[in-house]
Amino acid sequence: MLDPDRIVYLNGEFVALQDARVSVLDRGFIYGDGVYEVIPVYGRQPFRMPQHLRRLQYSLDGIRLANPHTEAQWDALVRELIAKQPFADQALYLQITRGVAKRDHAFPIGVPPTIFMMSNPFPFPPREQIEHGVAVVTAEDNRWMRCDLKTTSLLGNVLMRQIAVDRNAVETIMFRDDHLTEASASNVLIVKNGSVIAPPKDNLILPGITYDAALDVARAIGLPVDVRPVTRHEALSANEMWISSSTREVLAVTKIDGAPFAGGAPGPVFRAVWQAFQERKPHPSHAPTAALLR
Ligand SMILES: Cc1ncc(COP(=O)(O)O)c(C=O)c1O
Repeated sequence: MLDPDRIVYLNGEFVALQDARVSVLDRGFIYGDGVYEVIPVYGRQPFRMPQHLRRLQYSLDGIRLANPHTEAQWDALVRELIAKQPFADQALYLQITRGVAKRDHAFPIGVPPTIFMMSNPFPFPPREQIEHGVAVVTAEDNRWMRCDLKTTSLLGNVLMRQIAVDRNAVETIMFRDDHLTEASASNVLIVKNGSVIAPPKDNLILPGITYDAALDVARAIGLPVDVRPVTRHEALSANEMWISSSTREVLAVTKIDGAPFAGGAPGPVFRAVWQAFQERKPHPSHAPTAALLR
């Protein structure tokens, strides 16, 4: 539900969502000419904020848009927005577009960017998905070649996600040239013979902050980690498959294209990593679900 009184940030001001207005000539609206971040916030503590701000800089560099703020300024703004919300566990959305200008593909000169932030209640994955895993479908990755940039031009990802929705699945995992890339709004990792294997962070996938967190956790609990290209055959015959994202955290894939996968239940490596992930993130404000898989 949209809360019209929710305090959001727009171009230097904290205002109610219902009062936040952007011109129809904004290049975010006209061209999807902007970048964004989603930062998970547990108990009012942002998780891995320096990494999110670094990736924001990378995306801005990638679209040749100057960063309007220093890291310290972003940190202060993000914390102020968090403090203004009545709930403690949040998913903070931050977007910068190339601003408002006469419609023309070329970059406008001397135009200030549009800066927007909102923070919604953290959409914790349902217990059912944590305990029993999720269904995914597969598709050919037909997006552009700069999937490493977190841009607001998300039509390729939107169309991919809808394929999953239409088939009662939560994600669409994609293959390009017979290799695993990622899912419509999450990264994909597999487990084979006890090793956690992840596709490299090249131009074909978003360098996920949760992907890094999951691999860090795996290493910390002594699991072998291998970052390398993963073929379709290898992915579909893996012992386990996981999806990772800031809002889904880590979830096991237990159904692919309608057929049970990996025995139809989250595997032992997933359970160990999920548990360790819960223990390492900042404490959520409500009763933690950390004991769920014990
Ligand atoms: C296409 C895509 N890949 C991967 C991810 C996961 O990234 P993160 O873990 O930083 O949320 C996302 C997150 O929304 C995404 O949209």
